[in-house]
Amino acid sequence: MMTRGASRMTRVVMGHMGPRYFSTTIIRNDAGTGVTGAGLLHGFPASSSEKGVVTRARHFSVMGSRSASTMALNDKQQEKDSDKKVENGAAAASGGDGGDEKSVVSYWGVQPSKVTKPDGTEWKWNCFRPWETYEADMSIDLTKHHAPVTFLDKFAYWTVKALRYPTDIFFQRRYGCRAMMLETVAAVPGMVGGMLLHCKSLRRFEQSGGWIKALLEEAENERMHLMTFMEVAKPKWYERALVFTVQGVFFNAYFATYLLSPKLAHRIVGYLEEEAIHSYTEFLKELDKGNIENVPAPAIAIDYWRLPKDSTLRDVVLVVRADEAHHRDVNHFASDIHYQGQQLKDSPAPLGYH
Ligand SMILES: [Fe+2]
Ligand SMILES: [Fe+2]
Repeated sequence: MMTRGASRMTRVVMGHMGPRYFSTTIIRNDAGTGVTGAGLLHGFPASSSEKGVVTRARHFSVMGSRSASTMALNDKQQEKDSDKKVENGAAAASGGDGGDEKSVVSYWGVQPSKVTKPDGTEWKWNCFRPWETYEADMSIDLTKHHAPVTFLDKFAYWTVKALRYPTDIFFQRRYGCRAMMLETVAAVPGMVGGMLLHCKSLRRFEQSGGWIKALLEEAENERMHLMTFMEVAKPKWYERALVFTVQGVFFNAYFATYLLSPKLAHRIVGYLEEEAIHSYTEFLKELDKGNIENVPAPAIAIDYWRLPKDSTLRDVVLVVRADEAHHRDVNHFASDIHYQGQQLKDSPAPLGYH
């Protein structure tokens, strides 16, 4: 932690360094000769995309001058101008009117790419792009079950069954909330498995057979389930606290399990996914009974699963359930590969679903 003396010293140093290294005076002088400070960095006059760099420099100047507390009157005016520009840029980034000011907040002046939907309207999601959307495989067999035979299989199966009881008691029939909370857990195994395979690939100088990508795709897909359900069920403070705790425990437990026995880890996930299919089937029953309101589908879900515009929550649950069936098959397959004494890289990963 920075001491009070160190803080004071930082303020003094910034007071001197700020104007010297980030001064707007330099920029203005250069502008007078037709070459801006940013342009000088490249040896060319600044392009419009470099305005972001110029403004960034001005903003640093403001930070330095503010700390020095000896700001001249014209510096104060510059601060107002800079703040106004940054505000305009922020408004543009958040979808407001800003025009070219978008470059103000972009990193090194790189303009964000503009993507449109097939109907010509602007693509509003930065977390995924149109080419990452897909149509869920609704023909997938939802009833498939891997019968536990070996000791490890039975251990995995009963571990998952045991975990179901506290979740049933905690959530009762609040399936929207249950789905949202369970997705915070479901998105962990793919990331842990993908990360460990990634490190293994680096350590051993070998290909992964596509399994790193497949597992990371699973993690991302599960996270998108969460991004969808949080639109229809807002977590309460104690649910957030629960997620915090469970993630800490589950991440480490799964990490250790995957290191010790990947076949057990994948089998556990396979059974977790079987439970997820069951949960979403119960969710659908509650929707059909009218116990849960069948609200319009969140916009993010319509774009992610390429659903019709008039889709409802029921349609979303159907596609999510199909995703879970896909994860079930991927993880039981991964476990089976290990059971046959092979490594995942020896069998091509089931890529291309998402
Ligand atoms: Fe999920
Ligand atoms: Fe899943």
